Amino acid sequence: MDRLPLIAPRPPGLSGMAAQLRAIEDRGIYSNGGPVVRGFEADATARLFEGKGDCLAVANATLGLMIAIRQAAGARAGTGAFALIPAFTFAATAHAALWAGLTPLLCDIDPLDWASSAQAEARAFDRYGDRIAVTVPYATFGAGIDLARYRDYAQRGIGVVVDAAASLGALDAQGCQFGTDAPFAIVYSMHATKVFATAEGGLVHSGDCALIDALRRMTNFVLPAAARPKARGSMPSCPRCWACSPPNGWRRSMRWPRTACG
Ligand SMILES: Cc1ncc(COP(=O)(O)O)c(C=O)c1O
Repeated sequence: MDRLPLIAPRPPGLSGMAAQLRAIEDRGIYSNGGPVVRGFEADATARLFEGKGDCLAVANATLGLMIAIRQAAGARAGTGAFALIPAFTFAATAHAALWAGLTPLLCDIDPLDWASSAQAEARAFDRYGDRIAVTVPYATFGAGIDLARYRDYAQRGIGVVVDAAASLGALDAQGCQFGTDAPFAIVYSMHATKVFATAEGGLVHSGDCALIDALRRMTNFVLPAAARPKARGSMPSCPRCWACSPPNGWRRSMRWPRTACG
């Protein structure tokens, strides 16, 4: 019996991008945050997020989650405080919290939309109070989750990072890209298995440009921050050859039906 694939990845092929790859070689600029990556971030902000806020390209969504969770935890990173994570997500979410020195605290999902349950979150806040430093909801399989609830948490001083791995191309109830202009970090994957695929890659968006700037510095060993680094940095920046694939990705994503979500 023939097997039906669950998904059929169609990332843009590098072989179709000979001109763009040659242009990179001709320019000879091999730099963190060079023109291809920065151009892609600016295009993503303009085309997907209506020019609001800013975007940061990273090598994959796991690395985006790692830096965003660490930044959201602030001084509580490394203390073992809790990161509230839905019981139904991908292992990367909990691994990223562990990397930030937090303890994953699993929370039930809602059986109707498979996303973190508001009641279960409320019970966790009642029980653990300010031991919860960060909450990392997952927009399950690209479904829209209620960001108003998370804005509320953010206003109460709880760090919020949204794992929106499958949501690049998903629309919210207003017809905008899910996550547009959010005050916290929204982390998307561009892995080959995702709708907006570059084969490998991640994108972090926020309406808060200062937050994206802080995350950008974390991708570059916290440079060019002032004398003493205040956050732990690494180098999860997006490789140039993946960043040049979105021009093909743009064309494809225009053809693909966008995932609607409420
Ligand atoms: C929910 C979720 N979070 C994070 C990731 C990690 O994404 P990436 O492969 O880009 O690191 C995935 C990947 O499938 C995912 O499904």
